[in-house]
Amino acid sequence: MNSIVEAVNTAVAAARKKFSACTCANDVEAVRIEYLGRNGLFPELSKGMSQLAPEERKDAGRAFNEGRSAIQNMLQEKLSELNAGSGAEEAIDISLPGRRPRLGHRHPISQLTDECVAIFRRMGFIVADGPEIEDVYHNFDALNTPADHPSRDLQDTFYLPDGRILRSQTSPVQIRVMETHTPPVRIVAPGRVFRRDTPDATHGMNFHQIEGLYVDRGVSLADLKSVLQCFAREMYGDDVKVRLRPHFFPFTEPSVEYDFTCVVCGGKGCPVCKNSGYIEIAGAGMVDPAVFEAVGYDPTVWTGYAFGLGIERLAMLRYRIPDLRLLYDNDVRFLEQF
Ligand code: PHE
Repeated sequence: MNSIVEAVNTAVAAARKKFSACTCANDVEAVRIEYLGRNGLFPELSKGMSQLAPEERKDAGRAFNEGRSAIQNMLQEKLSELNAGSGAEEAIDISLPGRRPRLGHRHPISQLTDECVAIFRRMGFIVADGPEIEDVYHNFDALNTPADHPSRDLQDTFYLPDGRILRSQTSPVQIRVMETHTPPVRIVAPGRVFRRDTPDATHGMNFHQIEGLYVDRGVSLADLKSVLQCFAREMYGDDVKVRLRPHFFPFTEPSVEYDFTCVVCGGKGCPVCKNSGYIEIAGAGMVDPAVFEAVGYDPTVWTGYAFGLGIERLAMLRYRIPDLRLLYDNDVRFLEQF
């Protein structure tokens, strides 16, 4: 056996061992360079070929070619073995189910707002909108609120440096709608309102209201009660009754606060309604003539009612939420339930 045949056999055996020890593509490349690279063993051996006697050359040539392709095959096998993932860090298992993105959903307050608006739309109300940064005129003056009324106090309302305010109620939307539309008017205006309250279980510095306004000829308190009654039934079921209690608001006359029979005990009395059988919902009343005058409606021709709804309050009742701060903590474990 001539020396080249011998050298090729030794090299193939050594390369086999080295390939099997490889754990990454870089290791494989190092072995390739050692044997097949430009200054590697095989180019070196091919130089020795010319010194061989002609009768030895044939065997040496065949051994050389076979040895070289054996090493090339080992190299390919090792690379595909590494790619297939045995021992490699970047293994890809295409049969693994993907990671599902966690889907969010609408906030319970938004859901409930939509639900209320849908109920009022079925009763013929259309949706109106107004700015959250409001001027004092629309939030107080045009709503017949006297200059010394406590709700205007710095302690109660957020004033901006330019003299505007964060609206403390959705009632200014009444004014904006009446300023730009001739009667009859029938709107609901959902939105965010701001008050300088210390947050506790039933108060927040910002919360949500829906304002309702209906202006036409011959509108009465009975119309107001029937629309609230209809809303109560749609929202909480057929057994819920509405009660009006006398109250005062600067922009309605007469003014009422309205209650629903307790949705927890059905009116019998329980801790939620403090044994009264009723739960206070919000305020309402007949539009004050002074408000009509402020927007240029003739109070001898037009009559109307207005009402407010506190959405957080409706949510607390509907879902029995004991503390409204839960609605704003953004804890998914809480929000997921809706
Ligand atoms: N704006 C009043 C409030 O926030 C509620 C209300 C609306 C009262 C419409 C009467 C008429 O308390």
